[in-house]
Amino acid sequence: MKRPTSIIIALLIFVATPIHSAVAGDAMAGKVKAQLCVACHGADGNSANSQFPSLAGQVPGYIAAQLTLFKSGNRANPVMAGMVAPLSQTDIQDLDAYFSAQQSILGSISETDVKAAESGGTLYRGGFKALGVAPCMGCHGPAGRGIPPKYPRLTGQHPEYLERQLQAFKTKTRKHRVMSPIAFLLTPQQMREVSLYVSALK
Ligand code: HEC
Ligand code: HEC
Repeated sequence: MKRPTSIIIALLIFVATPIHSAVAGDAMAGKVKAQLCVACHGADGNSANSQFPSLAGQVPGYIAAQLTLFKSGNRANPVMAGMVAPLSQTDIQDLDAYFSAQQSILGSISETDVKAAESGGTLYRGGFKALGVAPCMGCHGPAGRGIPPKYPRLTGQHPEYLERQLQAFKTKTRKHRVMSPIAFLLTPQQMREVSLYVSALK
């Protein structure tokens, strides 16, 4: 009686594997391809340097979308443009699958930044009604974990990187239909505060 069961299991694995990798990318293949990325983004996608964003635990689909934007030049960055040039669609899907499956290391806030982070929390959760800024939480989630595939995870990210992206949205060096108008209304201080808050959100 043992043999038919193992044949059925083997058949199920055979049938299930190609379907899975065709849809969502292959994380195991992505791990090999990620060797090109780890010098900057960290071995498991948790980067140690705020020059480079962490990729670990990002919502599935977002990394692939950003790599595609770098490739088309719609998101301009000379370093990343060079990195994505040789990547195929399959490579992009595999890298997305690998990095989104990694555990993100949660951030923490130093004593001196606690107060700034508190003000940032008010903006994150409640928005800024007087100017018509929607609560960040509505799209990035109450715990900053994002909503797949479009709304990125912000918690666990370097606050300096988040702040730079808000500035880039504001000055339109990074253009986005939703984020550019929101960032346009924020002061540098608000950008710093909200970045500190969400980067360490549990
Ligand atoms: C030499 C350093 C370097 C290497 C190697 C590198 N990157 Fe990057 N990456 C950067 C920098 C710098 C940025 C920030 C760009 C910006 O400010 O817009 C970035 C941004 C990104 C982003 C956007 C993240 C976000 O939150 O929007 C993704 C996704 C990404 N890189 C993926 C990769 C992948 C995948 C590889 C390997 C194929 C890779 N990178 C290799 C430096 C690097
Ligand atoms: C209506 C939905 C929406 C709201 C509200 C919103 N965001 Fe976003 N945000 C997005 C989307 C979509 C992206 C991804 C942009 C892209 O694909 O390039 C994004 C991207 C970002 C990024 C870049 C992340 C990265 O990894 O590069 C930051 C930082 C950010 N948002 C911060 C905020 C803050 C702070 C607020 C509140 C003041 C906010 N967002 C409100 C939809 C929203």
